[in-house]
Amino acid sequence: MKIIMLGAPGAGKGTQAKMLSEKYDIPHISTGDIFRANIKNNTELGKKAKSYMDAGQLVPDELVVDLVVDRIKAKDCFKGFILDGFPRTIPQAEALDYALNNQNEKIDYAINVDVPDEDIIERMSGRRACVGCGATYHLVYNPTKKEGICDVCGEKLILRDDDKPETVKKRLQVYHEQTQPLIDHYEKKGALLTVDGTQDIKVVFEDITKVLDK
Ligand code: AP5
Ligand code: MG
Repeated sequence: MKIIMLGAPGAGKGTQAKMLSEKYDIPHISTGDIFRANIKNNTELGKKAKSYMDAGQLVPDELVVDLVVDRIKAKDCFKGFILDGFPRTIPQAEALDYALNNQNEKIDYAINVDVPDEDIIERMSGRRACVGCGATYHLVYNPTKKEGICDVCGEKLILRDDDKPETVKKRLQVYHEQTQPLIDHYEKKGALLTVDGTQDIKVVFEDITKVLDK
């Protein structure tokens, strides 16, 4: 099963992708997590990506397309994958379509986690993220067992640099301008599944899996 997660920053893409990855035993590939790991390790890619991310802007397409196209050719993607945060622009979607077409494959579901902008800013201030394994938590809606420590891998949690309210507003603007058009792109392909992302995390998951399990 080949899945992409669509939705505004903070809509819950990462939260649902992690759960889906466990249920269907396919890798969760988050471009944001890949960039954050590169920033943490001070790589060339990390250095290039950081200024864009901190400003709430998209990293240029050329820094992300080859990375993802190569990643989905790896052996562990044989059964499928969940792309979280990619594609984010029409050129990225076209590059992905082209790469999959060449292998006679296609995206099965583009899951659009729908949450209005008003709810996003409040969610982001309570988010805590693990740079070790990419897990995300929320102080109120999805707390860890031990404060500040990841339940999955035991690393310390961080407040992401781009979760400041001003940067979140910029990210929302960039989302509406550059990423929202992808909803139409996947609707035309008959792959779109829109779920109400304002519901409880478990209810959103049920809404997704009841369609995927059909
Ligand atoms: P990325 O890391 O992908 O960030 P994003 O798209 O802005 O999305 P988030 O990770 O912030 O949110 P999410 O939807 O995963 O929500 P989450 O599950 O954490 O990208 C970061 C940056 O990297 C970009 O701005 C860009 O610069 C760059 N980048 C990445 N990919 C790129 C690409 N392809 N091209 C160019 N640039 C790229 O949930 C949010 C919070 O809400 C959590 O605290 C969670 O616990 C909570 N929550 C989740 N679901 C619910 C619920 N149902 N009810 C209540 N709370 C909930
Ligand atoms: Mg995420």
